[in-house]
Amino acid sequence: MNTDPTSPAQPFEIFLVAAPGLEAVLCAEAADRGFTDPTMVKGGVTVTGGWPEVWRANLELRGATRVLARIASFRALHLAQLDKRARRVPWAEILRADVPVRVEASCKASRIYHAGAAAQRIERAIAEELGAPIVKAAPKKTGKSADRDVGEEDTRPLEIAVQIKARIDDDLCTISVDSSGESLHKRGHKEAVNKAPMRETLAALFLRQCGYDGREPIPVVDPMCGSGTFAIEAAEMAAGLKPGRSRSFAFEQLANFDPARWQSLRGSGMATPPAVRFYGSDRDAGAIAMSRANAERAGVSAWTDFAHHAISDLTPPESPPGLVIVNPPYGARIGEGKSLIPLYHAMGNTLKTRFAGWRVAIITNEAALAKATELPFEESGVTVSNGGIKVTLYRTGVLS
Ligand SMILES: C[S@@+](CC[C@H](N)C(=O)[O-])C[C@H]1O[C@@H](n2cnc3c(N)ncnc32)[C@H](O)[C@@H]1O
Repeated sequence: MNTDPTSPAQPFEIFLVAAPGLEAVLCAEAADRGFTDPTMVKGGVTVTGGWPEVWRANLELRGATRVLARIASFRALHLAQLDKRARRVPWAEILRADVPVRVEASCKASRIYHAGAAAQRIERAIAEELGAPIVKAAPKKTGKSADRDVGEEDTRPLEIAVQIKARIDDDLCTISVDSSGESLHKRGHKEAVNKAPMRETLAALFLRQCGYDGREPIPVVDPMCGSGTFAIEAAEMAAGLKPGRSRSFAFEQLANFDPARWQSLRGSGMATPPAVRFYGSDRDAGAIAMSRANAERAGVSAWTDFAHHAISDLTPPESPPGLVIVNPPYGARIGEGKSLIPLYHAMGNTLKTRFAGWRVAIITNEAALAKATELPFEESGVTVSNGGIKVTLYRTGVLS
């Protein structure tokens, strides 16, 4: 790996964190968006590029949870060696002396096994070589759970601008800068959330898994839309709106940030009005008010329709057939799902009898609930964690 990624001309490895189980879908998105050498790995996707690609990944990829720039990689067999080699990282070309930094370390199958001591060596290298203020990280794990470093989203509030992640695996220390800051599912438009909202990153990957990438002019209907995530995400995709257009990122706090180049990358943010519309409905009036407000903030209210009614009153919009995607209530605790069987059964009935020609996708946490719909699902997708609940995508082909 290149250990001097500070020059824009020098490509380095960029790690796109994915929801575990959806790496292949994110890999397809990265390839589609023209990133170089997208490669699926556990917990994410690697691509190569320079800092402008790091910025572009944050701006354009809908499915990435965060983007890590791998700034250095070296062997470290003991703490003194880690100390010495960490000092050789060109910190001043990447970090700013006036921006606080937090270092998180993890160790796995390595002679250095104390993550806290490893983090402390790197913190000291940054403090002494650069002079940046250090914010102490929360205690960190070692061993098996250290996999979370790349595989799962860190949802702790980020009270500082820049986070360094050091991962020591099989004596190889990889140092990354978290270029995103807040998790990328926070697009910056959703102030209002209903119960159990779907994360935007997951919603985008599920839509893509259903073959929807915004290019095909088909309507998308979510009959239990909650805060409107699927309809808004699909409308943004169809309108060519970049998911990161309204938010800020940690990379804006780095020494190598170039505001003029970033502005030109962001572009005008103009939408291309889609040829079709996107629909959400819910039996909860508050959810519909939230969806409308969220769509307004996202700039897609001209192409989205939100209606207050139960799924039993759902009829297809007057449009060519498209995709119904729905994330019904879950049975959060074991056994609780049973009470939801009548709801799932009725939903399946509505969709089977009124939505011929449409494809249906359901995201739920119990196979028995999916089965209760009696919809002709093709093989189910992988199981993914949505806010701690394991959910699976069930898809049909075109309903006859
Ligand atoms: C898990 S939430 C959906 C979350 C949504 N995907 C989001 O991102 O915010 C389930 C939604 O189903 C709605 N719901 C439950 N039963 C319903 C019914 N019979 N008809 C319509 N909506 C219903 C609830 O009001 C709730 O908003």
